[in-house]
Amino acid sequence: MSAEYQVNGNIAVITLNNPPVNGLGHATRAAAVNGMKQALNDDAVKAIVITGAGKAFSGGADIKEFNSPKASAEPSLHTLINVVENSDKPVIAAIHTVCMGGGLELALGCNYRVASKGAQIALPEVKLGILPGAGGTQRLPRVLGLEMALNMIVSGTPIPSEKLAKTAIFNEVVDGDVLEAALAFAAKVADVRPLPKVRDIKIDYPNYEAYLQFSRNTVRAMAGPFPAPLKCVEAVAAAVTKKFDDGIKFERELFVDLVQTTESKALRHAFFGERAASKLPDVPEDTPTRPIRSVAVIGAGTMGGGIAMNFANAGIPVQILEMKQEALDKGLATIRKNYENTLKKGKLTQEKFDQRVGLITGTLSYEEIAQADIVIEAVFEDMGVKEQVFKKLDEVMKQGAILASNTSTLDVDKIADFTRRPEDVIGTHFFSPANVMKLLEIVRGKKTAKDVLATVLGLSKKIKKTGVVSGVCDGFIGNRMIEQYSRQAGFLLEEGCTPEQVDKAVEKMGFAMGPFRMGDLAGNDIGWYIRKRRYVEKPQITYSKTADLLCELGRFGQKTGAGWYDYKPGDRKAYPSSIVNDMIIQHSADLGITRRKISDQEIVERLIFALVNEAAYILEEGIATRASDIDMVYLTGYGFPLHTGGPMFYADTVGLPNVVMAMEKYAKGRHGDAWKPAPLLAKLAAEGKTFN
Ligand code: 3HC
Ligand code: NAI
Repeated sequence: MSAEYQVNGNIAVITLNNPPVNGLGHATRAAAVNGMKQALNDDAVKAIVITGAGKAFSGGADIKEFNSPKASAEPSLHTLINVVENSDKPVIAAIHTVCMGGGLELALGCNYRVASKGAQIALPEVKLGILPGAGGTQRLPRVLGLEMALNMIVSGTPIPSEKLAKTAIFNEVVDGDVLEAALAFAAKVADVRPLPKVRDIKIDYPNYEAYLQFSRNTVRAMAGPFPAPLKCVEAVAAAVTKKFDDGIKFERELFVDLVQTTESKALRHAFFGERAASKLPDVPEDTPTRPIRSVAVIGAGTMGGGIAMNFANAGIPVQILEMKQEALDKGLATIRKNYENTLKKGKLTQEKFDQRVGLITGTLSYEEIAQADIVIEAVFEDMGVKEQVFKKLDEVMKQGAILASNTSTLDVDKIADFTRRPEDVIGTHFFSPANVMKLLEIVRGKKTAKDVLATVLGLSKKIKKTGVVSGVCDGFIGNRMIEQYSRQAGFLLEEGCTPEQVDKAVEKMGFAMGPFRMGDLAGNDIGWYIRKRRYVEKPQITYSKTADLLCELGRFGQKTGAGWYDYKPGDRKAYPSSIVNDMIIQHSADLGITRRKISDQEIVERLIFALVNEAAYILEEGIATRASDIDMVYLTGYGFPLHTGGPMFYADTVGLPNVVMAMEKYAKGRHGDAWKPAPLLAKLAAEGKTFN
């Protein structure tokens, strides 16, 4: 059973029971309809309460069922809500913890709603690229008013029940046991007739046309490539302009269209991808974790400071260790400045500011950090320095402490072997700025213990990061792939593009920044340093020399006032540079290349398919657990456009045979060896399969 039926005195109680969040899947809907029928056929029953078992009233329609025949199989959510709304006995929703999407739509079909304080109320469908499709856009404006309902539907943001207590959405908002309160309420209203129905409420908003037009303009400007937000406005508009049943029909049509869009599929993929990333097949969910009550960070530089802020933001005390007082003071001052800026912008209260700043302390002594539950090293990217630090940590840290490295390129297994406890060592690769970026690559060493992995995965949630596990390899998942993308970007310059043309092509696809603007922001010298190492370690790999020539001109990017683009003092806007463009043209001539006009399609394909091909190797080698993990890395760490679902999902959408065909075409050009399809990609394409 996925809904239970009980009679309590003369009140029937239907309890949705479909863990974890009582998603309204087919079986649950069917069981709830049966419960309604039983209650309606039982003369002893005078009223019906609908509630949810466990940790939710209901999280809404079962998203896992979307695009499967079960989603529309009868009884549909509409049918269930109709049965509830047409009941001749009063139906009361007893709402607790989570009441979202279809769950809220079901509640709005009831005659009365009793909620416990703190319940999260939302119509979050827009975040999945759809709109509320079971009457939400028609009923919510009737209980909350046009403006509040539209804001909730277009933003999808949850609101705590007590903040809605003064509206018609709830009849009571209670402390304590909501079922008890709902039963008492049901007893009171059992004989009240006529039964109130949300559909009968009139929306009173005289100047609705002007407001709706204003909303359309605002929403259009912020919706980007997503069609759903504007459709939400249209559906809500129908609540004012159409009769109730026509509005429901119109909402349904929009919903059915949106479910089929790639944008919605991509958002649903990201929803499940984020949750899947925290699971490892060989680390069971009940793996015990180590308590993390205190953190130490080694190094108060760019990364150390940002890393420390994450923990302070989550209420966990952090000590930062530096070699010299001066570096420590500088690092702590930067952190303080960051918090002050947030305070000035009004995004932090004074109380929270004091609390967070107070949780971060500095030290020069390893002995003082010895009792920390986890220590994260963020010192210079140099194996010799890492060796010194890890040997010292091994000497001083208490037994059971987790020893983590923020290295972006070095071998975590080697680092682990500097200690006598390699099972406690793990990579935690934060992305810059570490207090802002969502991604945390969790690098699993050969000997990393399972409870260490489980602890760090849990910790990443606590600090609101998307933790994705990567095996050990050069660059881990993200940077190993980006190297192939950067190589193609460089080759495109040699063959005929300008940096601006390349950037614009991928920015048009939805990237926040193209590779050259990104290089200027991050600092072109970082890649230069890495390439110099690679020229020695892997001489067989070819790179375009344009980026080296750029660095030889001292054009490291925004920090030096010049990079691929020119910059004006105090202005981050990138201006095309004639010096750079001349340098590129000269370089092509030196290589004997006749420059040609390159289409945006070729630019996008070469950059993205280079990522995809490397990702296929990463997947096949087991460096990534699943394709969606790779997508999560790119969506949360590299600005890959969300509406495409990440590189692997994008490749699936394009069709893997098409990806391979394009690669075969590019294999005939310069550096054709880069385009040999990875065996996994070739195999899936041949079998007509997808990555995800
Ligand atoms: N359907 C199916 N599974 C769902 C689900 C849903 N609506 N909502 C959550 N889940 C699953 C998650 O996939 C996850 O599964 P897992 O344990 O196998 O990974 C599990 O429930 C727990 O989810 P979270 O880790 O997110 O748990 P939290 O406690 O942090 O959050 C939540 C719970 C607030 C309900 C959050 O999961 C959430 O926001 N869910 C999405 C809610 C939503 O978008 N509802 C609208 C659905 S569409 C709809 O109703 C259409 C209708 O208008 C016709
Ligand atoms: P940074 O140069 O800004 O900071 C390093 C800090 O470590 C300095 O303050 C230095 O004084 C301190 N330090 C050096 N040796 C030390 C020691 N033995 N004990 C204590 N402190 C010591 O470097 P950044 O950029 O913060 O990088 C740190 C680590 O994070 C590196 O491993 C880097 O590869 C990695 N990383 C950097 C990213 C970035 O964008 N900067 C992104 C992701 C990872």
